[in-house]
Amino acid sequence: MSITYWMFTSFILLTSVFVIHGSHFDGGSISYKVVGTNGSKLVVRITQSYTYVYPTVYCNNTYIANQWNLVFGSFGDATATLTCIANCSTSGGYTPIPVATKCTDFSAGMQITVGQRTDDVLINNGSYFVVAYQGNAFRTLNLPGSGGSALGWSISAVIDLRMRADGTYNTPPKATMISPIYIPVGIQQKISVPTIDADNDNVRCRFASGANECGSVCPPSSLPSGTSMSTNCTLTITGAAAGDWYAVAIQVFKIKQS
Ligand SMILES: *[C@@H]1O[C@H](CO)[C@@H](O)[C@H](O)[C@H]1NC(C)=O
Ligand SMILES: *[C@@H]1O[C@H](CO)[C@@H](O)[C@H](O)[C@H]1NC(C)=O
Ligand SMILES: *[C@@H]1O[C@H](CO)[C@@H](O)[C@H](O)[C@H]1NC(C)=O
Ligand SMILES: *[C@@H]1O[C@H](CO)[C@@H](O)[C@H](O)[C@H]1NC(C)=O
Ligand SMILES: *[C@@H]1O[C@H](CO)[C@@H](O)[C@H](O)[C@H]1NC(C)=O
Repeated sequence: MSITYWMFTSFILLTSVFVIHGSHFDGGSISYKVVGTNGSKLVVRITQSYTYVYPTVYCNNTYIANQWNLVFGSFGDATATLTCIANCSTSGGYTPIPVATKCTDFSAGMQITVGQRTDDVLINNGSYFVVAYQGNAFRTLNLPGSGGSALGWSISAVIDLRMRADGTYNTPPKATMISPIYIPVGIQQKISVPTIDADNDNVRCRFASGANECGSVCPPSSLPSGTSMSTNCTLTITGAAAGDWYAVAIQVFKIKQS
């Protein structure tokens, strides 16, 4: 039997120059690890990492030093939650946690604000469900097929707490991608998405697909035509025009033979 484990992530590509927009989300990722038990429940450590547009979502060195949350201004993210969106009947008592992250980094030059948070939650052994952070103000993309501001997004993760045949719990693979990445116009690039997997299983990639996995910023329309993602996690892309922003929503998953 082969079991597929997956996580979702997205990152941004920019050709040549910056553009300034009113929307605020740049992508991110969600991962988890079973770190112990508490009574009959598992203690699951959920880590959320997100990138936003600076200074629309604000942070400075004072915020980093004090581990303060990012300042979301008029956007609803300060009170939004990581919500169960699928297989919720087997979510094992999961209670939604906030998505508002503590500031960990920012760059005025790159116009990015980065935040991360970690929560330990109690969930029943054997649970299996999908959580997501969904919103509607993704950084403006300006491809013909995906143009527009305030596009909806969905960053999701499968939480699989079914004990494996080897007596352990799955830890999802991680993609450690910085965002945004600059690419030139008209020259094909091969970008390797770095991945790590705590269980040493074989890691694979594919484009995200459908509303649950990427909202309205899905390949292929969020990318120049001809862009591909190989199963070995290499993105092949040629920038179409200067000033374009592209969203790369991918699933990183692994296949465990058991
Ligand atoms: C177990 O969970 C309860 C209820 O959330 C909490 O009060 C307690 O501190 C936890 N115990 C440990 C050892 O984490
Ligand atoms: C950070 O911003 C706050 C107010 O938003 C300000 O009071 C503080 O001086 C700023 N810190 C730095 C290091 O710029
Ligand atoms: C999760 O939900 C999907 C769609 O409803 C269903 O096809 C799948 O069997 C469910 N998986 C589990 C493990 O419950
Ligand atoms: C979780 O359930 C499995 C059976 O599915 C069982 O073997 C395991 O001991 C349980 N773990 C805990 C911590 O309860
Ligand atoms: C991954 O796949 C791409 C496209 O098929 C190929 O160009 C690249 O050499 C492969 N990389 C590795 C490490 O196998």
